[in-house]
Amino acid sequence: MNHTGALEAIDRILNRGTGADGVLQAVVDVLHDRFRHYSWVGIYLIEGDDLVLGPWKGPQATEHVRIPVGQGICGAAAATGRTEVVDDVDADERYLACFPLTRSEIVVPIAHEGQVVGEIDIDSDRQAAFDSDDRAFLERVALLISPACSRPASTRIPR
Ligand code: SME
Repeated sequence: MNHTGALEAIDRILNRGTGADGVLQAVVDVLHDRFRHYSWVGIYLIEGDDLVLGPWKGPQATEHVRIPVGQGICGAAAATGRTEVVDDVDADERYLACFPLTRSEIVVPIAHEGQVVGEIDIDSDRQAAFDSDDRAFLERVALLISPACSRPASTRIPR
């Protein structure tokens, strides 16, 4: 596990000057591909009162492509603006199940100018996969990508 190397890769992606949508997919790919315990990685973006799934990478698509703020672990993190770390998803009644193999989850809000604009959601097939280093690392990533998440959807998605 190499957080410094991943941050450097993300920095290079952000400085490439490509469209925001490509940037977010590339960041998701880095997170998924560099850390074995990051089984499924997705970015949700706020649209009104909902979280809408943007770029993701993992073995399977999720049915939860739109989650109302306040629902699930994703919705809790968006509502409070605080990172959620769930060591055992089966023991958390808020959990919205996506994949049968998921054992633990981390959701890191992405804030821009004091407002939650999205979040990074990572599921792991390992129980209690996310430690304080993962949390600090992903909070740093959220800070780095927040400008790319704060633009209106019309400029994020190329037509
Ligand atoms: N488990 C999440 C839903 C999203 S999936 O993990 C991709 C939740 O409880 O909010």
